[in-house]
Amino acid sequence: MTKKKSLFDFYLMKKEAKKIAFLTSYDFPTAQFAEAAGLDMLLVGDSLGMCVYGYEGTVPVTMEQMIYHSQAVRHGAPNTFVIGDMPFMSYQISTEKAVENAGRFLKEAGCDAIKLEGGVRIASTIKAIVEAGIVVMGHIGLTPQSSGQLGGHKAQGRTAEAARLVIDDALAVQAAGAHMILLEAVPPEVSSTIASMLTIPVLSIGAGPGCDGQLLIVSDLIGQFQAFTPKFVKRYCDVAGIVTEAMKNYCDDVRKGAFPEDVHCYKMIEGEADKLREMLKK
Ligand code: KIV
Repeated sequence: MTKKKSLFDFYLMKKEAKKIAFLTSYDFPTAQFAEAAGLDMLLVGDSLGMCVYGYEGTVPVTMEQMIYHSQAVRHGAPNTFVIGDMPFMSYQISTEKAVENAGRFLKEAGCDAIKLEGGVRIASTIKAIVEAGIVVMGHIGLTPQSSGQLGGHKAQGRTAEAARLVIDDALAVQAAGAHMILLEAVPPEVSSTIASMLTIPVLSIGAGPGCDGQLLIVSDLIGQFQAFTPKFVKRYCDVAGIVTEAMKNYCDDVRKGAFPEDVHCYKMIEGEADKLREMLKK
């Protein structure tokens, strides 16, 4: 059994230039696989809206859904650092509500940290959550919950001026006390600059190799999510293909009577079948 990593391990990994392996997880079995595979940290992402519930985006996801899925992941990966993702409108309404909802991830689901989207404009909320004693991961660059304001799911920081804004966000998130930061969909020149400017670990999803670690969505990595594949995804297996093939084979077996076989059947205790036959004759 591996020892659960703490925030201090991640700071040490940054210092020693050891990359952090980070993945989303939404349920008990996948969390078990992730822990067995040796992931350093897991994100119960609000991407579960698309990957688990089939929504078009993350906006409809509720705190209740996030808590249930975080509990399942915690049970599946008791020795892995688990981060709960704050859903849309769980931290924007008031600082008090944000602190309360952040605390629910720790109290009700046993998460080790929370993540929330936004830079400069969310800095005071980050500060309040940190002051409540909670480990915080900021999330800047492409922020899916506010993608409407960004003109869709587009890479960010592709001009010098836009890159400057992403850097300002990164600095604001660190200054507010966040313990880690996630950069989504920004060019490697920008993310490497940020990773070297900040003292906190900088994780990447679609932000190139220069960060302190990498995040992928588990449903993309295993080939389960079908709707679209972002440019930054590397698919490591084809679960959709494997599972569909297995289900087709099951249908065929049932229809032609090839399943169940003798090995799949319970046996009556010796002599009891004869007794039953006698009983039914009376
Ligand atoms: O919800 C999630 O999985 C995320 C990633 C897209 C970074 O926030």
